[in-house]
Amino acid sequence: MTNKPQTAVEAFVPLCAPEIRGNEWKYVKECLDTTWVSTVGSYVDLFERSIAEAVGSSCAVATSSGTAALHVALLVAGVEPDDEVLVSTLTFIAPANAIRYVGAWPVFVDAEPDYWQMDTAKLADFLERGCQWRKGVLRNRVTGRRVRAILPVHILGHPVEMDPVLALARKYELTVIEDATESLGAKYKDQSVGQLGDIACFSFNGNKLITTGGGGMIVTDNEEWARRAKHLTTQAKEDPLEYVHAEIGYNYRLTNIQAAMGVAQMEQLESYVTAKRKISANYEQALRGIPGIIPMCEAPWARSTYWMYTILVDKAEFGLSARELLQALAQHKIQARPLWQPLHLSTAHKGSWNAVCPVAEHLNRSALSLPCSVGLTPSSQNRVINQITAVSAPRAVRLTA
Ligand SMILES: Cc1ncc(COP(=O)(O)O)c(C=O)c1O
Repeated sequence: MTNKPQTAVEAFVPLCAPEIRGNEWKYVKECLDTTWVSTVGSYVDLFERSIAEAVGSSCAVATSSGTAALHVALLVAGVEPDDEVLVSTLTFIAPANAIRYVGAWPVFVDAEPDYWQMDTAKLADFLERGCQWRKGVLRNRVTGRRVRAILPVHILGHPVEMDPVLALARKYELTVIEDATESLGAKYKDQSVGQLGDIACFSFNGNKLITTGGGGMIVTDNEEWARRAKHLTTQAKEDPLEYVHAEIGYNYRLTNIQAAMGVAQMEQLESYVTAKRKISANYEQALRGIPGIIPMCEAPWARSTYWMYTILVDKAEFGLSARELLQALAQHKIQARPLWQPLHLSTAHKGSWNAVCPVAEHLNRSALSLPCSVGLTPSSQNRVINQITAVSAPRAVRLTA
């Protein structure tokens, strides 16, 4: 079935392409016409306000990327060299890298099997059994390092179960830095992600629900932290006129052009979430009955944006592994993607705490993300569904023969 020659009508189906159909041209043109193209301009302020409003936070600081936002969030939250930060192991690598940028160490926490987010029972177990108070400071029993913060990553558009995270943070006096980069628009109970911890970060890179081409945002209710984040992201210049600096800062500013695009994109956030949820419902309905395909789920306490629609593939039942299915789809110009290597296995982080994370490893072996652009047409989605059904069919016939 998969070896059929491709026909001229088979167009490429990308995994997750940006959707640009609103006021993006108008607002960007205004930047060009007025020459407000760089890091100062009304759109930066407007974009910050629109994200703060959507999340329900009092302050927002725009940055050049989500990674830059995480770096600065860790700095303003007071994470210091040689501290430890508890972070999801099943995530894109950026949050763990940002922890290393400030000289601290990630301690990786496994994923839970239902919604694939940080496992809060394992988080509690590490804090209860793996740490101890010494002279008023919480320390990792083995490394002796101070445990300073929890960095839950809301992956794939779905929130982490935050009540246990927040209760543990209170009990162990830890700061909570949410990596909400993949989950703008998602809700935990009735609160938006990004409003639950002490500080949170978003990304507007090209494949995110809202894109500015590249960009990020820090949100917090702590006005002092927000002021400091603005200071650090703008080269830590002390005086509005004179070029004097008391500490090392960063050039992490978002440009007015990027922010203009962001403002236009934010006008469409709710319609994008609606489109993603419709795509997910279509996949769920079509794929649920195929043996060996396990669609992603939404917790009863969550509103997922289904930013990156993902399934699990059980080779014993389906006949192909996730990576074999990826290849079969690629032959028909359909782009799919595996989930990230869990970070406790990453050579880049080999000096970190040697965590045991079997669930994340299983998810890495069996997960496959499917095309889910906001603008995915029903006919393109049917092509994806038909190809998955087609490669599963011979085995289903064999099983019933
Ligand atoms: C979970 C997570 N954290 C952080 C980032 C970093 O964002 P950026 O690419 O804007 O630096 C990304 C994605 O790109 C991400 O998926």
